[in-house]
Amino acid sequence: MSVFQADVLAGRVALITGGGSGICKGIAEAYLAHGAKVCICGRSQERLDSAAADLREKTGGEVIGISCDVRQLDQVDNLVAATLKHFGKLDTLINGAAGNFLAPAAALRPKGFRTVIEIDLLGTFQVTRACFDALHQSGDGLVLNISATLQYHGTPMQIHASAAKAGIDALTRNLAVEWGPLGIRANAIAPGAIDDTEGMRKLAPGGLKQKFLKHIPLRRYGNIQEIADMAVFVRTSAAAYINGTILVVDGGHCVVAPGVSDFMPD
Ligand code: HXC
Ligand code: NAP
Repeated sequence: MSVFQADVLAGRVALITGGGSGICKGIAEAYLAHGAKVCICGRSQERLDSAAADLREKTGGEVIGISCDVRQLDQVDNLVAATLKHFGKLDTLINGAAGNFLAPAAALRPKGFRTVIEIDLLGTFQVTRACFDALHQSGDGLVLNISATLQYHGTPMQIHASAAKAGIDALTRNLAVEWGPLGIRANAIAPGAIDDTEGMRKLAPGGLKQKFLKHIPLRRYGNIQEIADMAVFVRTSAAAYINGTILVVDGGHCVVAPGVSDFMPD
């Protein structure tokens, strides 16, 4: 049961990169359930078709899936053109496409570093830039980037993803300043560790998941619904003055002072 009115996003059209799985599929579901029309993108058309069918069944909403590698400019241009052709407008862009793996800095090949930077950071820039005209014409555009919190401190085996997400935070602030006057807000959501996601499976394998819990003040992992709710909120009129902000949803993990986790009450 949602805390938002069922039609709070009626009339909205959102493009959600990475919307075929995990957190961004959850955001797509929440947007559809609240009346928005949605295009999801990822590299695998098969995955998108299956996700779109599932989303239609769950919400009855209008959703299409268009395959696109966000690193490839021609595919990005096609994605935006196809979305506009289908829906006639676009007022919301959610940049969630990302790639990650655990790798120590000394062993990480430059190609691996480049791959993550190109998917997360360059991809976010390319899709955002391609959407500019449509967001501008909508008169009430929103860019919502999916960031993270690992870049706030040094995080082992995450030099590539940390650099990419720090760059995404910088994009968010710069867009807010340059495009705010043109009627386009730019914000980011920084999820903490979200349960039942590819990110968690990759970054907290084996016993690490249980071990990590003591560092989160709320003593639990987040869930996809909690990120999706924040994404709906940012698109509502209640958030109309929120611009250039990185909204952290992490159970308090990133504000824990260094070394105090062992002293926190159980
Ligand atoms: C070290 C690796 C590696 C690994 C890839 N590489 N996997 N290095 N350890 N496990 C490096 C290698 O140098 C490799 O080239 C290069 O990356 C490119 O790998 P490819 O597999 O050819 O790339 P590609 O097919 O484009 O796939 C991209 C990917 C893949 C990122 C590597 O994992 C992917 O598609 N991921 C998408 C889904 C995903 O990762 N979701 C999780 C998002 S979670 P060579 O030639 O040397 O092999 C997330 C969480 C953020 O973002 C914060 C959480 C707290
Ligand atoms: P996920 O399910 O793997 O989502 C990533 C999506 O990006 C997939 O649907 C993938 O689809 C797509 N993608 C990857 N490379 C792409 C490319 N080159 N072009 C287009 N699409 C591409 O992972 P998730 O854990 O839900 O993460 C979603 C977002 O939340 C990411 O931005 C991630 O950094 C962020 N995040 C996650 C967590 C967490 O705890 N999970 C924490 C902080 C931040 P294809 O493989 O089909 O292309």
